Amino acid sequence: MSNWVNIAIDGPAGAGKSTVAKLVSEKLSFLYIDTGAMYRALTLAVLKSKTNPSSETDVSELLNHSHIQLIVDQEGSRVLLNDEDVTLDIRSSEVNQLVSLVSSYQAVREEMVKRQRQLAGTTNSVLDGRDIGTYVLPYANLKVFLTAAVSERARRRHQEQIAKGMPSDLEQLKVDIAKRDELDSTRAIAPLKKAEDAVEIDTTALTIPEVVQAITELAKERTA
Ligand code: CDP
Ligand code: CDP
Repeated sequence: MSNWVNIAIDGPAGAGKSTVAKLVSEKLSFLYIDTGAMYRALTLAVLKSKTNPSSETDVSELLNHSHIQLIVDQEGSRVLLNDEDVTLDIRSSEVNQLVSLVSSYQAVREEMVKRQRQLAGTTNSVLDGRDIGTYVLPYANLKVFLTAAVSERARRRHQEQIAKGMPSDLEQLKVDIAKRDELDSTRAIAPLKKAEDAVEIDTTALTIPEVVQAITELAKERTA
């Protein structure tokens, strides 16, 4: 157990994890660690280098040579892959469709978890992902499991992509999200599931400030 305070936020795609984790980290002056962005950056590296995504060895070898950085500064949060800003590229539908496969490999997960524990072991932090409370940080001070109905999660992603001027197909998003839920929840290693001691919050009918408020209050209670 580290001396730093760690907050784990897990849940399926579109539940609001990254939006809420970022705002909670700002309120508490904690570091925000977007673990999904790390898996997405590796997936983009696989696509760019034309690595065979079905080969665990090739993908994990690529990870060993990939420099993935999560940067939070005045310009907001950015993701760098080998010093190139890939913040937008990692959200493409090509990445969405491949990321669960790339994330399912044991060698990949071991290396990613090592990097995540290193980051969380050096400062107070909020981490969001799929296995933070169950596996990466089993002693986190607070574990939150965020959920929402699939239709609502797809609607949120659709609105987000339209707002960014990206192409978006609501029905396709529903299919992709449901498929990713299935793959992430049924994989052999560190599947998506609520930790026994996590607080579950269904965000379907909640606003972002409501969720942020609830988590911030829980964090203050736990660390008082
Ligand atoms: O933002 P969204 O919920 O769509 O996904 P994300 O958090 O960016 O994660 C993308 C994918 O990475 C997930 O669907 C998982 O396959 C994988 N992931 C994981 O396996 N473990 C984590 N701790 C975080 C993400
Ligand atoms: O990280 P995750 O995939 O769990 O979700 P997100 O990327 O934080 O949220 C997906 C979208 O839903 C964003 O555009 C949020 O602004 C929106 N959202 C919302 O409308 N209401 C909430 N309670 C949470 C998120």
